[in-house]
Amino acid sequence: MIELQDVTHDYGGGALFENVTASLDPGSFHFLTGPSGAGKSTFLKLCYGELRPSRGSVAVGGSDLRAMSRDELAAMRGTIGVVHQDCQFLDHLDVRANVGLPLHATARPVADRDIEDLLSWVGLNAQADALPPTLSGGERQRAALARAVITAPRLLLADEPTGNLDWDMSQRLLSLMIELNRMGTTILIATHDMNLIRTAKSQVSSRVLRIAGRRLQSAGADL
Ligand SMILES: Nc1ncnc2c1ncn2[C@@H]1O[C@H](COP(=O)(O)OP(=O)(O)OP(=O)(O)O)[C@@H](O)[C@H]1O
Ligand SMILES: [Mg+2]
Repeated sequence: MIELQDVTHDYGGGALFENVTASLDPGSFHFLTGPSGAGKSTFLKLCYGELRPSRGSVAVGGSDLRAMSRDELAAMRGTIGVVHQDCQFLDHLDVRANVGLPLHATARPVADRDIEDLLSWVGLNAQADALPPTLSGGERQRAALARAVITAPRLLLADEPTGNLDWDMSQRLLSLMIELNRMGTTILIATHDMNLIRTAKSQVSSRVLRIAGRRLQSAGADL
C-alpha cells in the first residue's frame, strides 16, 4: 500500500532521514515511533504527498506520487484518511458537519446515521452542534479521527491520534482503528504511547517502525 524507495528528506538543515526503504502491505497495521523531532510527522506527510522527498520515491497503492498531477494527487488523498498532529477544522461549521465533510467529496450519499453513530462512538454526541474552536484538545482529536474514518478509507495515516486523551478514550479510538483494519483498511499510526502499542499488539497483528538517528528500523519484539 505504501512503498518508500531510498527516501531521503532534508528541510534544509541536514538530512532528517536517509535512504529509507520500507514497504507497508495492504491491510497491514503499523505503528511509527521514535523521539520527538526524529521525523514521524514528516514521514506521514511524505506518504500522503504533502511533502516531496529530497531524494527517492514514494508510492501509494502502486502509484508513484512523483508522477501524479495535482488533480491525481487530490484524488489519491480522497481515498485516504489523515489525522494531522495539529487537528484543523472549518471553524464556521459545527462538529457534525466537519466530520461529514469527506463524504461530500465522494459520490456516496451522506448517511446521517453513520455520522451520528461515529460521533457517539468517539463520545462527541453532546458536542455535535458545537463549533470547533470551543472544543478541548482531546475532543478535537476525537473529531479529527471521526472525520478521517467516516469514508472507511483504504488507508489511514494518524499522527499522534491519542496524544491528548485519557487511557479509556485512547483504547476506544484504538478499537475503532482495529475494527477498520479488520475491514481491510491499512493503518499507520505515529505515536509515543508504548501502552497503546502494547495494547494493540495483544489484539491485532501489528508491526512497529522506529525512526531514530536518520534511520527507519523495525522495532524488535521487546515492546
Ligand atoms: N516545514 C519544516 N521546515 C523546516 N524544518 C522542519 C519542518 N517541519 C519539521 N521540521 C523539523 O524536522 C524535524 C522533524 O520534525 P517532525 O515533525 O517530523 O518530528 P516528529 O518525529 O513528528 O516529532 P514529534 O514527536 O514532536 O511530533 C524537527 O526537527 C522539525 O523542527
Ligand atoms: Mg510529529
